[in-house]
Amino acid sequence: MRTALSGVALLGAFAVSLVAVLTFSHPPVEMVATGNPGTGMQLNYVPAQVAQALAINQPPPALPLIDAGPPAKTVYKNVQVLGNVSTGAFTRLMVSMSNWVAPQQGCNYCHVAGNFADDSKYTKVIARRMLQMTIAVNTTYANHVGSVGVTCYTCHRGAPMPTQIWFTGVTPGSGTGLVETNMGKNLPAAAINNSSLPSDPFTPFLLNNEQIRDQGTTALPSGNRQSIKQTDWTYALMMHYSQALGVNCAFCHNSQAFSDWSESTPQRVTAFYAEAMLRDLNRNYMVPLTATFPVSQRGPTGDVAKINCATCHQGVYKPLFGAAMAAKFPPLLGVGATAAAATAPMPASDTTNATKN
Ligand code: HEC
Ligand code: HEC
Ligand code: HEC
Ligand code: HEC
Repeated sequence: MRTALSGVALLGAFAVSLVAVLTFSHPPVEMVATGNPGTGMQLNYVPAQVAQALAINQPPPALPLIDAGPPAKTVYKNVQVLGNVSTGAFTRLMVSMSNWVAPQQGCNYCHVAGNFADDSKYTKVIARRMLQMTIAVNTTYANHVGSVGVTCYTCHRGAPMPTQIWFTGVTPGSGTGLVETNMGKNLPAAAINNSSLPSDPFTPFLLNNEQIRDQGTTALPSGNRQSIKQTDWTYALMMHYSQALGVNCAFCHNSQAFSDWSESTPQRVTAFYAEAMLRDLNRNYMVPLTATFPVSQRGPTGDVAKINCATCHQGVYKPLFGAAMAAKFPPLLGVGATAAAATAPMPASDTTNATKN
């Protein structure tokens, strides 16, 4: 009896371990050395994840280039941004915009049927501002987007609403007098890889202009206000940087001295330029459109959808693996634009660190 029982138990244990061995597998990790030789900096890639990223980051085919016909403003009635674009290039861009943003809905996603000049659809009003935003990214922020640039497709990927967006987080317990707040922590958010760090590092850093650097450079009594709390916020943002680009920290830093720029890679400088770009896009383009968006599309506190690194990058180090789509659409580089980047000046740096303290 006893031997039979232990036989069954043994068989059971064997079956369980067989299932474990067959279903759990350690992913083979490809390692790529980076940084100066001897620094031990390396990037780790899981081939299955790379294959998945490759599949969703292919640029769509571009229509053949056309640049013929009189300027759009001489033919059409209500062209505020693309006035000096030839009618040929204008129509090509309208068709491409439909493919990038509203392939199912077509022209009438933005236009009132039969009256292209009419502005009564909110989507057209937003699309006009999006045209200005795209031109601003490609011209003002060449220090980040280089010659790769962006088109509507970089963010939209064939859908009216980009999948990678963020809203200001609601922090339970905040603003309730003596009750301790949870500092925005322990609210698992996919945007920061479900870590227990503050779940909305975007409001302080990519909307407001608070200090990302958290390493003290002075001794404590002389006004050093760096703290573990502040470090948490910086790390939450860094989790997002890594996840949005599909890389680990060594893509930008030498981990023996995270703060030292001379030991960091050139990519850290490129990333640094993106911070100012995002504050500009969120403050001067997205936030002023809040009332234009239907209420149903806004976040839990009524705010507009906003942009972070993942909106363009979608898991890879360069959006669409660096396919230079924008060069095929000169009007998006500002060629022939009459009211290009209407960028309001950026508010001065906030010194209060109000959001994250
Ligand atoms: C994603 C929104 C969007 C889609 C889709 C779209 N358009 Fe437009 N369209 C606009 C915007 C915005 C303007 C105004 C541009 C400006 O002010 O410079 C415009 C202007 C026009 C005009 C000029 C009308 C006038 O008299 O002022 C024409 C013509 C036009 N579009 C045709 C089309 C066609 C044809 C399609 C489908 C193939 C299309 N559009 C799809 C947003 C869109
Ligand atoms: C840097 C990213 C980015 C780029 C580039 C971009 N958009 Fe957008 N767009 C957004 C975000 C974010 C929203 C808000 C999405 C939401 O409310 O969920 C949006 C919303 C829209 C909407 C409103 C959709 C709706 O139904 O509410 C339209 C229309 C639109 N974009 C058109 C365009 C056009 C046309 C271009 C290119 C000229 C463009 N966008 C380029 C990020 C971008
Ligand atoms: C895509 C590039 C990039 C990646 C990936 C990245 N960082 Fe950063 N990191 C930056 C930039 C840029 C800054 C400086 C921001 C500023 O000063 O505005 C920074 C700042 C920091 C700081 C503050 C340094 C100081 O001076 O106080 C720390 C700490 C840090 N990162 C840690 C990390 C960790 C940990 C990871 C991995 C989870 C990581 N970073 C991933 C770009 C990156
Ligand atoms: C508006 C779209 C957009 C947004 C938003 C964006 N990027 Fe980029 N980024 C690009 C493009 C396009 C390139 C390719 C530039 C090139 O190849 O010259 C790029 C390149 C980079 C690179 C250089 C990669 C390399 O291998 O050289 C880094 C690092 C980077 N981005 C980090 C970030 C970080 C961090 C954020 C968020 C703070 C961010 N990006 C937000 C469009 C964007």
